[in-house]
Amino acid sequence: MPTLIAPSLLAADFANLQRDSEMLNKSEADWFHIDIMDGVFVPNISFGMPALKAIAKHATKPLDVHLMIVNPDQYIETFAELGSAVLTVHYEACDHLHRTLQKIKSCGMKAGVALNPHTPITVLESIIKDVDVVCLMSVNPGFGGQSFIEETYTKVRTLKTLIREKESATLIEIDGGVTNKNAKQLINAGADVLVAGSYVFGAEDPIQTIAGLKEI
Ligand code: DX5
Ligand code: ZN
Repeated sequence: MPTLIAPSLLAADFANLQRDSEMLNKSEADWFHIDIMDGVFVPNISFGMPALKAIAKHATKPLDVHLMIVNPDQYIETFAELGSAVLTVHYEACDHLHRTLQKIKSCGMKAGVALNPHTPITVLESIIKDVDVVCLMSVNPGFGGQSFIEETYTKVRTLKTLIREKESATLIEIDGGVTNKNAKQLINAGADVLVAGSYVFGAEDPIQTIAGLKEI
């Protein structure tokens, strides 16, 4: 499967969300990555439902919604109604992860689980077959523009082995500090989806930058 590219709109110009969404529509990007933060699970607040609604109005590609919030269960139906295709919750924010994933799927979305950099892959052993996408955080969640944590390569390989052993169809997504410098190595290790925020939106030509990632 060709690698999927999911630009993170956290790095977009919030005063020009329509323009930036249309740029992504025109580009080779596969998904729109949307970072929702609550100021509790992570030490930052990004945007919530109204901004997602505004983006969804213009986006012609699947919305990959990454919830960096506590108690995600209470908003699952709302994010389905807003048009999320993939809904990712944090392992560290869920007491009953199995139930949460079933609820996401019953609302018609793909179920994602994100792991913080300190969380080992082994916590997914008993649940991997129920997970459509594992989002490996390659920075500490909360902010764009941070440096990539090198230990991620080992985690990708360990996760790929687990997915193969369990004969699961789970995709591996990498989120944080992704650029053309680490994309190749991530893909070789087993990554299926690359999220890139500042590398794409900070570029002089984001469309070309996305095309460059897609070619790797
Ligand atoms: C971090 C977010 C990321 C972030 C990535 O908490 O989950 O999706 O937007 O941004 P860059 O690519 O700039 O690290
Ligand atoms: Zn994210």
